Amino acid sequence: MEVVKIIVSSGPTREWIDPVRFISNASSGKMGFCLAEAASTWTSDVVYIRGLTQEEYSRPAGSRVVSVETTLEMRKAVLDEIGPGTLLIMAAAPADFRPVQSSEAKIKKEEGSEIITLELAKNPDILSSVSEKIGKENISGVVLVGFSAETHNLQEHALGKLKRKNLDYIVGNYVSRDEKGFGDLDTKVVVFGKDGSEKGIGPASKEFVARELLAYLKSR
Ligand code: CTP
Repeated sequence: MEVVKIIVSSGPTREWIDPVRFISNASSGKMGFCLAEAASTWTSDVVYIRGLTQEEYSRPAGSRVVSVETTLEMRKAVLDEIGPGTLLIMAAAPADFRPVQSSEAKIKKEEGSEIITLELAKNPDILSSVSEKIGKENISGVVLVGFSAETHNLQEHALGKLKRKNLDYIVGNYVSRDEKGFGDLDTKVVVFGKDGSEKGIGPASKEFVARELLAYLKSR
């Protein structure tokens, strides 16, 4: 495939409950970081849109970095960067929900109440927002790649997301203590294409998997 620009999103987003508490997840940002570094050998225009990645995964060589905090901010940053001939790889783990109200003051423990209820609103899906935008504005040559981290029924769930989010490719990987997913360990992925193609990569380091994944996409 031919691309002029590559956007890689990476890491978790953070949704504040009050000034000292937030909702997030265990994504380190390592896969996104490795993908951005590999992407810079393909094109010189690489944008790394990062949530709260670990510090060591915050500045990939050869990328322009855009730092965001919340899922809504990440969505805006991605939509702003999308143009003709863009390959978008959504390796980020955006928080799916945000508190309906984020308290200005630290929430205090109330005497006698053992249960507190936190009301959450669903965040928009970034990939779906992007496919909507490219349809509406008729932006040509955009390739959308999502990730599907699963503990069970990888193929079924990954193919469901491929379709639901209108993607060109989905990268399925198992996340569990045995199969190794989030974090620093070796990983194994299967890339499913909307054309029915299927390609396994690994188990190997995330550096290796990222380079192979980019080489595979480039060859398509
Ligand atoms: N993603 C996104 N916008 C969100 C959440 C996720 O674009 N608000 C992207 C992720 O970056 C990833 C893909 O969607 O590339 C799959 O994310 P996942 O959260 O696993 O998908 P869901 O459809 O929310 O499925 P699940 O039921 O497993 O949570």
